[in-house]
Amino acid sequence: MCGIVGYLGTLKAAPVLLSELRCLEYRGYDSAGVAVIEDGQLAVLKAVGKLSNLETLLSDVQPRATVGIGHTRWATHGVPNDENAHPHLDCTSTLAIVHNGIIENYVELREELMEAGHQFRSETDTEVVAHLIEDELKEDPDDLLTGIRRALHRLKGAYALGIVSQRHPDKIFAVNHHYSLAVGIGVNETFLASDSVAVCQYTNQVLRLEQSEIAEITTAGARLFSFAGVEVKRNPVELENKQFVLDKQGHKHFLLKEIHEQPLVLRRTIGKYLLHPGKKINFAGSSAHGNYGVHLSDAELARIDRIKIVACGTAYHAGLVGKYIIEELCGIPVDVETASEARTRRLLVDNRTLAVAVSQSGETADTLAAIGEAKNRGAIILGITNRPDSHLSLVCPNLLVTECGLEVSVAATKTFTAQVACFYLLALYLAERKNLLPEDRIFALKAELLRTPALIERILANQDDIREKSIQYSDAPGMMFIGRGIHYPVALEGALKLKELSYIHASGYAAGELKHGPIAVLDERVPVVALTIPGTVYEKTLSNAQEAKARRARMITVAVEGDELVRKTFETVFTIPPVSEFFSPLISVVPLQLMSAFIADHLGKDVDQPRNLAKSVTVE
Ligand code: M6R
Repeated sequence: MCGIVGYLGTLKAAPVLLSELRCLEYRGYDSAGVAVIEDGQLAVLKAVGKLSNLETLLSDVQPRATVGIGHTRWATHGVPNDENAHPHLDCTSTLAIVHNGIIENYVELREELMEAGHQFRSETDTEVVAHLIEDELKEDPDDLLTGIRRALHRLKGAYALGIVSQRHPDKIFAVNHHYSLAVGIGVNETFLASDSVAVCQYTNQVLRLEQSEIAEITTAGARLFSFAGVEVKRNPVELENKQFVLDKQGHKHFLLKEIHEQPLVLRRTIGKYLLHPGKKINFAGSSAHGNYGVHLSDAELARIDRIKIVACGTAYHAGLVGKYIIEELCGIPVDVETASEARTRRLLVDNRTLAVAVSQSGETADTLAAIGEAKNRGAIILGITNRPDSHLSLVCPNLLVTECGLEVSVAATKTFTAQVACFYLLALYLAERKNLLPEDRIFALKAELLRTPALIERILANQDDIREKSIQYSDAPGMMFIGRGIHYPVALEGALKLKELSYIHASGYAAGELKHGPIAVLDERVPVVALTIPGTVYEKTLSNAQEAKARRARMITVAVEGDELVRKTFETVFTIPPVSEFFSPLISVVPLQLMSAFIADHLGKDVDQPRNLAKSVTVE
């Protein structure tokens, strides 16, 4: 995960590096550091903890350097401390390196380098790269590009690197191998970052490093080379020059702001592809990053007889809702698998399978690996992402883009509902193009989908009541979330939100599974949250809730306004406006998001940046 930045120009580097790092803090926040070259000397400054600690350090030191690299870390090898924070140095402390990813063969390389006399200062896998380059520079210390290339040939794994050397104060080298790096080209200044968002604060001319490429960066721009040393010619693309504004818009946390953005995000995402219930779904689209949209030919559509969804975390839960939606509307069998599992076993897909990868960031290593495998096996590929400039967009010839804007909070909320909305759209699109449903049914479904954002607004208007009801459960040692059918993935998502935000253990179960084991956990200390929306599984879920209540569990439910029956079973009722069972996941998840946010805030947790997490999970 981790974020890499760089700057070379005429401004003081430290404030630029810091503002780039601020855009990337979502990638990790265990420690941060910079390496700058000032008066011909390399200087490294690091601080454990949040970026604000590095900011304080830099404001004390005030380096004047105009070249530097920086890093924000999510620890993989070695605990978060000053020694393990990046940048890392070679033995001579003249070459510094920042790294995102994992060097898989670092143990053997480290042993070999130590035997050769190299002194290591950290427990990281990264440090071997600095020493390896140092070793490869012995023959010609001035040819850094060749030294780097030779070192890369010895590395195994996936990585992105930023490198500066005191011998070359007018250059930064960047390497991309299965990750993302963007070089921003300004006037007499050049920027580097793991995410183009960080460089777009300064310039909209962006050169993305493709796989296995090295960039030699100067104030005049960047030259690209393959790992074999062959120069690659590619022009920068012009991106929309969006400012990355860290503005909570009056909310206490980004999380709350993002929960509140859901009606707008859904209107934008649905509205982009569906203008009116009487119109066909239009998945055409293009962007500066290449074409996106869905471009399935009639032959491909006719062939699809199975759908495989791969994703992680919240995106996986969106995929599970997608299964219910597509199977219900299209009658096409769908299976959903966490990408980390899908990538490690024989993936049974073929050219009749539509393989769908769902990823907010478009950078999740497991999801990219799983969809890459599906592609190799001949599946038809489609991605759903919030980042059309991500790696996923390069892999997917068909791409649906959620219109969420940046999601700053590590816990996914608005991107979940937008991903679910994409599954409704996809199912309707398949039904339409494959003639699977009568026109009047499609019309009615589209009309209902277009009405869902307004229903969320009504829940949000009631958030004070949700806060008051939620915080009374803050002292629970654990909670259980239950739902049946299409509500089951919502229960899983409710449990995940509570865990990651409040650190209270929570499990999500199919309500019918409770009696097969989990019920043993229940007593008066463990609240149970049930999704009881009228529909095919309403009565059965109420029966399962009764079984939990009989074990003295405190009972909470999400139910529709006017449902008096649930009050007999549940001590706390989060009401939502009346909604059909089929569309309810878009609505019923909202009180659960708010409940987790309020409990976490009440417990004094770091709501936007929960411990141990990072937003973009770029390691396996
Ligand atoms: O960027 P992605 O959607 O691929 O990320 C997948 C998960 O890492 C992500 O959804 C994670 O579970 C969130 N922190 C959940 O809130």
